Amino acid sequence: MKTKFKEGKIIEIFYVEKRGKKIPVIIRYPKKSDVNGIWKFYNKVIKETEFLSRITPVSLKDEKKWVANAIKSMKKGNSAYIIIESDGKIVGSSTVERKSEEVHKHVGGFGIAILQEYTGIGLGRRLMELIEKEAKNMELEIIQLSVYGKNKVAHGLYKKTGFIEAGKIPKLIKRKNSYDDDIIMYKALKK
Ligand SMILES: CC(C)(COP(=O)(O)OP(=O)(O)OC[C@H]1O[C@@H](n2cnc3c(N)ncnc32)[C@H](O)[C@@H]1OP(=O)(O)O)[C@@H](O)C(=O)NCCC(=O)NCCS
Repeated sequence: MKTKFKEGKIIEIFYVEKRGKKIPVIIRYPKKSDVNGIWKFYNKVIKETEFLSRITPVSLKDEKKWVANAIKSMKKGNSAYIIIESDGKIVGSSTVERKSEEVHKHVGGFGIAILQEYTGIGLGRRLMELIEKEAKNMELEIIQLSVYGKNKVAHGLYKKTGFIEAGKIPKLIKRKNSYDDDIIMYKALKK
């Protein structure tokens, strides 16, 4: 299995325009010492958006376990987790994770989240392109995701990047007594 993962390795550095100012952005693999940054980022992003499945904050202890597992899994070629760093903070991340069932090992589950303040400036699209490359390096054949019906920005981004809608499960999501549909999408990496 090909894997280019190395803790903390920079994938790319570029500038984006945010509120009229050019700011540097680093996209890279995580390292163990990112735990605090990832923890702060994740708890902030789940508070800001209603479109992630987690509602309650993650404890630092659980985040430590999660990051350690993510790094282990990347070393084995079973997942890719890439982060966006700007201004010394983690502001976004995306992941693709090989399914564990024997018959699904060619399939990767996908996730993405960016801090509200950094959305709408092209970072989501770039992260998706990079995570797709990672998925190909992992020799995955299909990327699968699910997106809430009301999440028009993410749904639009997935359609633009070649994901196909397989169907939807009405009212699969229930959050504070308000329902939403769950749309299942996929992209075949091997034709
Ligand atoms: C969904 C998400 C990852 C998109 O990332 P982003 O950095 O805002 O996306 P980009 O800036 O790269 O834009 C991607 C496309 O969406 C469009 N878009 C972005 N923000 C938009 C908005 N507020 N309204 C309409 N379209 C928008 C852009 O025009 C762009 O299309 P283009 O490339 O053809 O110009 C980000 O909004 C996010 O993290 N949201 C919260 C968590 C979430 O919903 N995760 C996905 C769960 S399935």
